[in-house]
Formats: sequence, C-alpha cells, structure tokens
Amino acid sequence: MKQSVKLIVGNWKMHGLSADLGEAATLRQALEEESASCRVVLCPPATLLDRMRTVVEGGAVELGGQDCHEKPAGAFTGSTSAAMLADAGASLVILGHSERRAAFGENDAAVAAKVEAAIAAGLEPIVCVGETLAQREAGDAVAVVSAQVENSLADSLAERPFAVAYEPVWAIGTGLTPTLEQIAEVHAALRAALVRRLGQAAARIPILYGGSVKPENAAEILAASEVGGALVGGASLKAEDFLKIIRAA
Ligand code: 13P
Repeated sequence: MKQSVKLIVGNWKMHGLSADLGEAATLRQALEEESASCRVVLCPPATLLDRMRTVVEGGAVELGGQDCHEKPAGAFTGSTSAAMLADAGASLVILGHSERRAAFGENDAAVAAKVEAAIAAGLEPIVCVGETLAQREAGDAVAVVSAQVENSLADSLAERPFAVAYEPVWAIGTGLTPTLEQIAEVHAALRAALVRRLGQAAARIPILYGGSVKPENAAEILAASEVGGALVGGASLKAEDFLKIIRAA
C-alpha cells in the first residue's frame, strides 16, 4: 500500500549536546518556510529532549525518545521511563533498535513489554526489526524480520498509532543499502505479518526503511513499494542533510 504522508525520523543515537540544538532550530525554521509534505520527527538523546522541546514547540517538528524502560517507575538506576520521555516533550519512541538488541540483549519479549509501557504513557512506538548479514546470506531475512515484528508487538497496538522500521543490521552506518527489490520484498512481508498479527487496522501502519539513508538515495528508497518513511541516523545530525531527505519524501 502506498502511504500518503511519509514519516521521516531522525535518530541522533548518542550524539548531541546543547551546542547542537541549533540544528533543531534550523529544521524548524526551514519547515516553516517550505512546509513539508511529511511528518518530521527528531529523536535526540533524552538529556536534550526538554530543551529541544522549547526550540521546536509550535512548529512542525515532533520529538521522540530512543528507548524506554518497560516499567513506569521504580528502582532502575540509569533508566528512563516512557512517562519521563513524554514529560520531557516526546510524543514517539524508538523501541527495539538493533543496537539495543545487540548491545543490551533486548529480545522480542522485552521490546513488546516496552511497547506496552510506551502506549500506557501515550507515546507512539516505532518498533525496529532487521536481519544480520549472516541471516540475509543464509536466505533467512524475511523469516527473521517477520518473526521479530510478530513477537515485538503488543495486542493493544491494534487501536493505536505506531510505526515499524525495517533496518537491516548490515546497512546501519555502513553506507551499504539493500536493493530496492530487497527492500520491497521485506516490506511486503512485514505488511503481511502486521495484518496477520493485528488485523486489517494494521494495513495502514507506516513501515519505515532505515540503514544508510542519505540525501543521495532517499528519493528512490522512499518511492519503493510499501516504504512509508525513513529512520535516519548519521544524515539526521545536520539539518541541511536531513532537510534534503525530508524534501525527497
Ligand atoms: P544510519 O542512517 O547512520 O545508517 O543509521 C540508521 C539507524 O540506525 C537509524 O536508527
């Protein structure tokens, strides 16, 4: 299905200090002058959310977190709850990013618990899935991501806005991207898995592509079948680059 309004999300990962808030200001200003035809979201580190809110408030840029704890509060030193993200200005949250699955051992069940927590706090989850290079080379990409999406979702998502992001692990930060045929194949499989899991309501959920999206390749990727937007890492750190991707949507 072709999505009418694309969702373009910038994931700043562990980058961003006060000095970088100007990038959000530039983005806000540019979107006031040229009104984007897509939804634009920035996901800075949690420490910048509240201050970035004051920069983008009243404009077209929405804010998201990069992860949340599955519990609403408690003795979890160093963790951030979904309600805290919402309180600091987020309306979305990235969950199950492959960097968290790999480095912090998050499995599908843990991601599903975080999805529940995000929904309870009124956040729109962006649930990430993606195969490793070994899994793709073994011919297992579609099976891996289909299982990930079915097991990482929560039943309560059926009535809620959310997004899925397909990010092949081997394409993140490497400059490599799948072919458009490979992207279309996985996105079609994810759409089928979503509808199987949550029913027809999931036929309209945006499925983003992420992994080395750049100004140079954004237009063709965003035009591929079932691609409802992009989850952008490195190229979202500078407003100038991110704007080129937004304009391609
Ligand atoms: P890059 O765009 O830097 O490859 O990162 C993609 C990503 O992981 C976004 O979540």
